[in-house]
Amino acid sequence: MILDETKILKVSPDLSGDGDIEKLQFAAEIIRKGGLVAFPTETVYGLGANALDEKAVKSIFTAKGRAQDNPLIVHVADSKDIDNYAFAEGNEKADILKSQMPAPLTIILPKRDVIPLTVTAGLDNVALRVPQNIIARKLIELSGLPISAPSANLSGKPSPTKAWHVIADMTGRADVIIDGGDCAVGLESTVVSLCYDVPRLLRPGGFTYERLCEVLGKVDISDAVLEQLKEGQRPESPGMKYKHYAPDVSVVLVKGNAQKVRTFIIEKYKSENCGIICFDEDIDQRSSRILNMGSRNNEDEYAEKMFDALRLTDTVEGIDTVYAVLPETTDGISLAIYNRMLRAAAFNIIEL
Ligand code: TXA
Ligand code: MG
Repeated sequence: MILDETKILKVSPDLSGDGDIEKLQFAAEIIRKGGLVAFPTETVYGLGANALDEKAVKSIFTAKGRAQDNPLIVHVADSKDIDNYAFAEGNEKADILKSQMPAPLTIILPKRDVIPLTVTAGLDNVALRVPQNIIARKLIELSGLPISAPSANLSGKPSPTKAWHVIADMTGRADVIIDGGDCAVGLESTVVSLCYDVPRLLRPGGFTYERLCEVLGKVDISDAVLEQLKEGQRPESPGMKYKHYAPDVSVVLVKGNAQKVRTFIIEKYKSENCGIICFDEDIDQRSSRILNMGSRNNEDEYAEKMFDALRLTDTVEGIDTVYAVLPETTDGISLAIYNRMLRAAAFNIIEL
């Protein structure tokens, strides 16, 4: 930190509030001086620093308690800026994905020398993204710098999708927290590597696999997306090997058709020491032990609420286990839901 204490700055999501731009100018100045700024994006809140300043980048790892071998995403305001930090010229697939940005999408390309190896954790490739959220883009623009930013949670905790999540984890660790409201997508960006012959999905997110295939043609999916890494196996995306997104209570996933799930959940709910994360249709009661994720046919709402629900489970008195119902398939955004929930539950899943 470069300030004595964390400053929380509230701005309106469309930047129409009095003084919003001045607040972002202050935050941009903190970035230029080597400080840390937590800011909203459409996916999750990020913890940002000047990507060209090694010392500032190192302080991100310290603030989060993040493993040094887990690389960071570099955020830029415009897809044209990608070429300043990575080799993308003449790369047709990169051009296609750039034309889709801003989006909840991150692409991995061979890096240029200006990007310090601290950002990429020693890799020759760099992850780049143009956020859709206008607060995020304005902050990058005003700083005049690329901003490297992981999710603004303490390592291992669920990613932050609301300002209070960031305030809980980053007070006393970040110089500025910009409170710009809730994150619309609710889970982190889709990460695609263009460093293979066939583009490779390393982390599913708001930009769906189906959509990727529509614009790129064939896209491979990394084994680590839905499977547990074997002892000693090296993931293509280093972040995949860590315990992730987990609350303190243990999470057990439940998968099956609506009727079977309903019977199972109603039975489990009778026990006092468990919480339930489920769809509206799964149970009729409402209580602090039940976290509703919206309707079965609206997985976007599940994605949006998921990390908040995982955090909330730790605030419910007297529960030691939470049963979390999964969508029935891995189509669309559900692939990302499965990817995150499998990690939160350490792959503990009951198939009914
Ligand atoms: O939506 C998002 O992507 C958010 C917001 C703040 O933009 N950021 C985010 O960052 O989720 P983080 O650090 O929590 O996750 C980045 C993921 C990690 O799994 C990391 O291992 C992977 O991207 N990654 C970053 N650079 C990489 C590289 N050069 N090669 C392979 N994987 C990389
Ligand atoms: Mg993260």
